[in-house]
Amino acid sequence: MKPNPLLGVVLFVATITPLHAEPDPHSYAEPLKVSISALDLDLAVDFSKQELAGQAELSLDWHDAAARTLVLDTRDLHIDAIEAIDARGSAAAVSYTLDASDAILGSALRIELREASPKLRIRYHTSPKASGLQWMTPQQTASGKHPFMFSQSQAIHARSWIPLQDTPSVRFTYTAHITTAKPLRVVMSADNDVHHALDGDYRFSMKQPIPSYLLALAVGELDVRETGPRTAVFAEPSLVVKAAKEFEDTEKMIAVTEQLYGPYRWDRYDILVLPASFPFGGMENPRVTFATPTVIAGDKSLVGLIAHELAHSWSGNLVTNANAQHMWLNEGFTTYVENRIIESLYGKDVATMQLVVDDQELLVEMADMKPREQLLVSDLTGIDPDEGLSGVPYDKGRWFLRFLESRYGRADFDPFVRAYFDHFAFKSITTRDFLVYYSANLEKQHPGKVSAAEIDEWLHQPGIPESAPIAHSDRFDAVDKAATDFLAGKLAAKAIPARQWVTSEWLRFINALPAKPDAAQLAALDKAWKLSGTGNAEIAFRWYVATVRAGYTQARPQIAAFIERIGRRKLVVPIYEELAKSEDGKAFAKEVYRKARPGYHPITQASVDKALGL
Ligand code: BES
Ligand code: ZN
Repeated sequence: MKPNPLLGVVLFVATITPLHAEPDPHSYAEPLKVSISALDLDLAVDFSKQELAGQAELSLDWHDAAARTLVLDTRDLHIDAIEAIDARGSAAAVSYTLDASDAILGSALRIELREASPKLRIRYHTSPKASGLQWMTPQQTASGKHPFMFSQSQAIHARSWIPLQDTPSVRFTYTAHITTAKPLRVVMSADNDVHHALDGDYRFSMKQPIPSYLLALAVGELDVRETGPRTAVFAEPSLVVKAAKEFEDTEKMIAVTEQLYGPYRWDRYDILVLPASFPFGGMENPRVTFATPTVIAGDKSLVGLIAHELAHSWSGNLVTNANAQHMWLNEGFTTYVENRIIESLYGKDVATMQLVVDDQELLVEMADMKPREQLLVSDLTGIDPDEGLSGVPYDKGRWFLRFLESRYGRADFDPFVRAYFDHFAFKSITTRDFLVYYSANLEKQHPGKVSAAEIDEWLHQPGIPESAPIAHSDRFDAVDKAATDFLAGKLAAKAIPARQWVTSEWLRFINALPAKPDAAQLAALDKAWKLSGTGNAEIAFRWYVATVRAGYTQARPQIAAFIERIGRRKLVVPIYEELAKSEDGKAFAKEVYRKARPGYHPITQASVDKALGL
């Protein structure tokens, strides 16, 4: 058969035209004119200077014939030289300007080219205060023997360690050559070799195109344990055995997710356990999730976080939000998938309890939010994506998907979601792209099940719509009864039937405490159940907030130990915020923070500074 020339044109246009292109308010780049298709990094990791130094080579796809300027995102980068490389491989210096720095966006790097060069080489080094890197002294690690560094690129910090188009609407492949001191190990969001010699010289390749926020690097004294044919855990030596045990079910998680949504497309799925100052719970860096050690509770009770980061291998890393305004496509889908994984692995009871807790906590959180902040899709121009983070894209997004699931039924909704992941694989999309696909592939086949007004309300109105399905857990009925009786003085603390409770049951109980709990009641609870000092970080931070509200100051030594050891923003910021509400609490918080601050990541420092009005 003769090839149809028109078909070729259509396919070509379909692959280069962003689906529904819209400007990214968090990037200076102009990807409709020219976009990065590949990145080749060559960097030396210098712990004494706390800098990465070397070069980035960018391969360019020119889409606009008249364009000659390439605008890149940077923050606190020192540019040493820029050369254009022509088709024959010869390099020539080019001129460029670095704009003044914007507090949120950093500095645009404007490179003037004489022709549409296929490649560009940028020699540069980073600043010790790079917002996307944390440099740690040996004392800040478990063994105390070697320094440690890691990156956190999401949302817009890749630009602080690599000059690039720092917008998720652009995807590219990458290679990297990283050198460092022996015997440190280098890990990247690429093809890590668990058997690599600790020789200080590492090469990586990521063949699937990824957005910039998934670029990741970590260097430190890292041991490794394989937990399956395509899974392993990297961690500091003293933690690696415990970590491998905690995460031993990872292969099972991958298998159930593949059952639901199709093959895992990234070859390996490893987990890197970072020092406790990692500012997030987890980060879905492709092929190697970065995780906080605070999920290692000892009883696998917090591995839902791994389910979440793994789910991003479909929702987020495969199908990516084109900019932060559509973050629900990443986080809402992922929170939905996370719960489906938990349901498959641990049963409906456990999954439903988590939903009920999350629904309730979202409603509480939204009660204090401006209507604009409650929208699933909203204009984030001028808003720092780190500060704009809330439960809305996560749990309102997940609730919206459960609403669709409840109306269409799993028999039709599950294949739809799977086909959506396939259809948009390795693409960056907006809510409009989702809606067009939804209309053609679910709504049209089952007209009348969901109205346009209902969809609009979920996406574009504040609050939670009336149409939201209400999750109910029978197991919580018992918890609620215990809480009511205990609070009314009818049930002694030690008589609470909590011996078999899982994490969600404790969260439900703590959330049932009044806004200002009674200090004597908390003391009784603490005596009976040893809540202060618990190794379960999710229970701990909610409990500590309750103790502060109650004025139960006996918990302060444990609070101090917790916030000095842990730098995960979600766990420590609510405690600081609650302490800051009283004079005495604020003085205590400032005292602890003085010691804790140097160990925190810049992202956590910024949030705590704000909470304490510094
Ligand atoms: N991708 C996020 C982390 C993130 C989001 C970093 C936005 C920077 C900007 C990651 O998947 C995540 O959601 N982590 C959660 C874990 C969770 C909800 C189980 C976290 O870190 O708490
Ligand atoms: Zn996530």
